[in-house]
Amino acid sequence: MSYTIVANWKMNGDLAFFQSYFKAFHDFKFPQNTDVIVAPQAPLLSFDTGCAITLAAQTLSKHASGAYTGELNAEILTSLDIKHVILGHSERRQYFNETNEMVQAKAAQAIANNIRPIICIGESLKAYEAEETCSILEQQLSEAIPKAATADQFIIAYEPLWAIGTGKTPTIEEIEKTHHFIATKTAKYGAVKILYGGSVKPNNAAEILSQAHVNGVLVGGASLKPDDFQAIISAVR
Ligand code: PGA
Repeated sequence: MSYTIVANWKMNGDLAFFQSYFKAFHDFKFPQNTDVIVAPQAPLLSFDTGCAITLAAQTLSKHASGAYTGELNAEILTSLDIKHVILGHSERRQYFNETNEMVQAKAAQAIANNIRPIICIGESLKAYEAEETCSILEQQLSEAIPKAATADQFIIAYEPLWAIGTGKTPTIEEIEKTHHFIATKTAKYGAVKILYGGSVKPNNAAEILSQAHVNGVLVGGASLKPDDFQAIISAVR
């Protein structure tokens, strides 16, 4: 299996942080069959990591171009050779009112510009406790993925909202079961890559990555420390 390990720095890290972070990767031995991607704040996307890690944007506009002050379009990302964008992260949904429909429009923009969206889905604690995870995810999948997309054009990241930044995760059995469910529901697109996100740490990464339907992880907090992120990448082995 090939793996994708993604770091979401969120609104953290300046240029000095970027430079010292990637210096720590100069002698790092990357596992085979593994893409490692870091999503920093947008102005850092024009800098070189100096290692095998590529960069991703944390969002983009659903519009192609024009009078949308403050937005970032797919075209500028393509011109910087950016190949991935995180879309529909729960923080975008919660604080910036992003809907599944908006995520779909953004994903279509990305795909049209040869950028692979990492589409985030996940249930709230209330939905989890009410055992509504599958129906919530099914709706997110059907509304957020562009209809004509194929499996090699996008990635799904399953991130239970209650696991993000909390130190809590579903059980390993729940993660595998939910990923299997997502794989079944997206089979019409082909074999879709499905990442797990939410409190991935050096001490749980190996177990999560060993599950049959887990193709990688999306890491927030732990990705800000190069040592921790390296331990998570190495857990692929
Ligand atoms: P976390 O964040 O690893 O800090 O839980 C994950 C995410 O928000 O993508």
